[in-house]
Amino acid sequence: MRCTLVHDIDLLLTMDPEAGEGRLGALRDAAIRFEGDRVAWIGPTAAAERGADEVVSGRGCVALPGLVDCHTHAVWAGSRADEFERRLAGEDYTAILKAGGGILSTVRATRAASEDELVALGAARLSRLAARGVTAVEVKSGYGLTPQGERKLLVAARRAAEAAGLRLSRTFLGAHTVPAEWRHDRAAYVAQVIEEQLPLCAPEADAIDVYVDDGAFTVAEGEAILRAGQRHGLAARIHAEQVAATGAARMAAGLGARSADHLERIDPAGIDALAAAGTVGVLLPGAMTYLRDPAPPVGALREAGVRLAVATDLNPGTSPVADPWVCATLAAVSMRLPVEDVLLGLTRHGAAAIGRDDLGVVQVGGPADLALVAPPPGEPASAAALVQTVGLTAVRGVWVGGARR
Ligand code: NIG
Ligand code: FE
Repeated sequence: MRCTLVHDIDLLLTMDPEAGEGRLGALRDAAIRFEGDRVAWIGPTAAAERGADEVVSGRGCVALPGLVDCHTHAVWAGSRADEFERRLAGEDYTAILKAGGGILSTVRATRAASEDELVALGAARLSRLAARGVTAVEVKSGYGLTPQGERKLLVAARRAAEAAGLRLSRTFLGAHTVPAEWRHDRAAYVAQVIEEQLPLCAPEADAIDVYVDDGAFTVAEGEAILRAGQRHGLAARIHAEQVAATGAARMAAGLGARSADHLERIDPAGIDALAAAGTVGVLLPGAMTYLRDPAPPVGALREAGVRLAVATDLNPGTSPVADPWVCATLAAVSMRLPVEDVLLGLTRHGAAAIGRDDLGVVQVGGPADLALVAPPPGEPASAAALVQTVGLTAVRGVWVGGARR
């Protein structure tokens, strides 16, 4: 069996409070040994068994579980650079969508692309995430909006993640918006999502998501779609309270949703519902920044005990961001999320949002997914130094299931 030893790690953040100090389970001068695709041993470097197929020094570095990017729309075709400039000049995201642009412009380009083209585009983007320490990623459909178009995206996502060497969770998002050809009869589109898209797509997905918002779906439509997904064995997730406060988060929590994402405009009742249901709140600071939205009520969410994840939301419109570390910094600076919560958000809580409690934590017997990160030049290895800066840290090594990327 292939063995890897990473030794002399200045700071290992296991994300397991039982394994080390504080909420991040920190160990100093640590070593970690992989055997095959599993973590075989964690301990002080001085006690590490020497000899392995691959030996890597972690001197000066922070090691942490491979990052889990739990919310992306990474497989699309086409460009929204023109729309970016229009929004800079003052045009509004929802108004552009209602006029047939935004998500709908990406839908046109994505429908016209072949599966192979989508695989190549998706793999290129996922490789960028992997280079920044991501080892597991969620990818949503939502730019096909036909039965075959949605399935094509989910299949392309599987092939793209394989090519990039990443673990994957796939989410069916046929209810991303009402496509142009169904604008005259949205009830018929909702019926198509439930009766035609879902049966075809469910075997290629782990979860179902719906975008409940102004310009997208109502709470009642969203509930019907999520319930149908659950009947097909999919976990429920939701885009909620992003542009308008709708009560979508509370509805999803009531269905036992795995996550509710965005939450810029969530109200106290929604927060209580997420806490009571154990639904993860996913913070997407890229979208918040590009849309110049107010910050979600992070203080109230934390106080209520809602687990908060941080994700890139990588997409062509509201968050063309393929770097989880940039999102980490934005979550801290713009949302005032404390450093420890940011790092839990990129690891353990991101894993919870995709239903993978074995990921996002470094523990003996668990998957050998690790990111080794050098802090900024001149900085000692610390959790804060990774989140404080942009462009100064360097990812030195990434392992997925014990294999070096
Ligand atoms: O998460 N809000 C809806 N969906 C995406 C945006 C997708 C797009 O603009 O293409 C989001 O922000
Ligand atoms: Fe999204």
